[in-house]
Amino acid sequence: MNIESYIRVTPDFPKPGIIFRDFTPLLANGPAFGALIDQLKARYAENSIDVVVGVEARGFVLASALAYALGAGTVLVRKEGKLPHETHAQEYELEYGSSVLEISKDAFTEGQRILVVDDVLATGGTIGATLKLIQQNFSVSIEELLFLIELDDLSGREKLPDLPIHSVFHY
Ligand code: PRP
Repeated sequence: MNIESYIRVTPDFPKPGIIFRDFTPLLANGPAFGALIDQLKARYAENSIDVVVGVEARGFVLASALAYALGAGTVLVRKEGKLPHETHAQEYELEYGSSVLEISKDAFTEGQRILVVDDVLATGGTIGATLKLIQQNFSVSIEELLFLIELDDLSGREKLPDLPIHSVFHY
């Protein structure tokens, strides 16, 4: 099963000059999506993961499927104003302007072993804010940062704290 062949390359989206790597065809194909999740399940089988954290929005899809496969829970890191319970918030920079991510104050219990998952590591701004939210507010063990796609030219990983990072595909 060539999982990577289900990632569709779309030039000039969302604007001219950007090459967009779209994994929705992979999600839409049952055997390919299953093979991806099985591969990741095998990677973390010995890590005793309690919670898989997914970052809005496409990170949710990967996080919840992997959490189910691992027998773990899922925690959602959401954009501002979406979570009903009390939250911790973290602002981060976008190409133009800034945005805010939030996590529920009761997201974890002390000492839990977690994975943090998003679909893409680009500049690292999103995952950087997510890590601040977690590390500044909770006492948990981040076992690894997991991405489906890492855009190597943007060097996002160089801005991140010293944690294990696994990206399934590099471009
Ligand atoms: C995309 C992607 C990552 C983030 C990566 O999300 O899903 O979360 O950008 O970019 P960065 O490393 O430069 O921060 P987007 O903000 O487009 O949100 P969406 O998943 O809700 O569409």
